[in-house]
Amino acid sequence: MSSSPRIAISGVVAVLIGSLVFTQSFAADAVPRVELLASMCNTCHGTNGKGAKPMPGINGEETDDFIDLMQAFASGEESASIMGRHAQGYTEAELKLLAEYFSKQ
Ligand code: HEC
Repeated sequence: MSSSPRIAISGVVAVLIGSLVFTQSFAADAVPRVELLASMCNTCHGTNGKGAKPMPGINGEETDDFIDLMQAFASGEESASIMGRHAQGYTEAELKLLAEYFSKQ
């Protein structure tokens, strides 16, 4: 006996849709996006950006000042050993999320 190819294909499609739904609901319940972004910063700037000597803390700043500084790093206006290159990797929306997150740490 051979099973119908149509049934086999719809089985594959069902599994694909199922895993897509699973992945999305898993992602929604997982670590919030801003915490993932911030964890990059924390590797150098310490837990919650509170500083890890000799790294400066980046917590508790005004959001506008934080965004201005990150953009100045990215443009090269503010000279830096690392942050000039690092700051170029974020969109304006991501910088805003990070600024709001670190202002509350
Ligand atoms: C690889 C290490 C490293 C990572 C990762 C890193 N930084 Fe930095 N950061 C530095 C260093 C070093 C400085 C000092 C300026 C320089 O030389 O680049 C700095 C300076 C800063 C400053 C200025 C602090 C002050 O008081 O002058 C801010 C704001 C900042 N970083 C934000 C961030 C954010 C936000 C992230 C994550 C998106 C991040 N950094 C990721 C190393 C890092």
